[in-house]
Amino acid sequence: MVEDNLLDELIKSVREGARYKAISAELVRRVGAQELAKGRSFKEAVKATRNKLHQVGGAYQETPIPYERLLGELQTLPHEPRDPALQAFCRRVMQFHTSTNERLPVLERFFNETLAEIGPVQSILDLACGLNPLARPWIPLVEGGQYFACDIYADMVAFANAFLAHTRQDGRAEVYDLVQEVPARPVQVALALKTIPCLEQVDKEIGLRLLEGVQAGHILVSFPAHSMGGRSKGMVKNYESHFREMVSVHSWLVKRFEYPGELAFLVSK
Ligand SMILES: C[S@@+](CC[C@H](N)C(=O)[O-])C[C@H]1O[C@@H](n2cnc3c(N)ncnc32)[C@H](O)[C@@H]1O
Repeated sequence: MVEDNLLDELIKSVREGARYKAISAELVRRVGAQELAKGRSFKEAVKATRNKLHQVGGAYQETPIPYERLLGELQTLPHEPRDPALQAFCRRVMQFHTSTNERLPVLERFFNETLAEIGPVQSILDLACGLNPLARPWIPLVEGGQYFACDIYADMVAFANAFLAHTRQDGRAEVYDLVQEVPARPVQVALALKTIPCLEQVDKEIGLRLLEGVQAGHILVSFPAHSMGGRSKGMVKNYESHFREMVSVHSWLVKRFEYPGELAFLVSK
């Protein structure tokens, strides 16, 4: 059992770094406790905690996201999600996060095709959303539908909330550590886009726990088709067999979609 004082000290040190300030304290605590329990020195544990947090979050943000400037720009734009100037802004913002950036070439198709059979959707819960709430104009959600989202970054969540409010979208984003607890909010569709491999870096068992626990009739699950360095050898095959094995204990309906950068499955419970 790691001493609480030492852990508090470690959380404080980790969060002194500019890139770690906005990360959910719960996740820093969990990762920090794992690293201290390995018998590392305090200094090594701080470094290892930061490395792990970088792998699960920071690595997707190659440059700091200029939220303040983007918020200023957002305020000058129309509120209507169909507006071309607003959509151009969304595309530009999504370039700041590797995950949404990789989806931009197929944005027009991705949600329309994967959700075609069940759309237009009434409510969405976007798990480990990154900047995906900015993809809202391309998601077939009914007028008056709800969009909920969560991630570990307080600044990203605040920005997503400002965007949802600006576009008069019902719903909200919140800071949430999915490893700690699976959200209980009931929705029609949950999005777990490129989320599972990321969470598995902290907890190997989270994949099935998340799919089973989330209160959604359908879950759109996806995996990256290549690494961040661009290598793709065997990734689709490996992620597909990992996913199939995970869901094999259930008789859920699974529909498969493959895009150049992403392998997706629509799971219907
Ligand atoms: C590969 S990105 C996917 C982002 C988004 N779903 C998409 O596909 O565009 C993984 C996301 O998971 C978030 N994340 C990592 N660990 C998390 C946790 N324990 N709870 C919630 N979100 C987490 C990261 O901040 C990052 O935004």
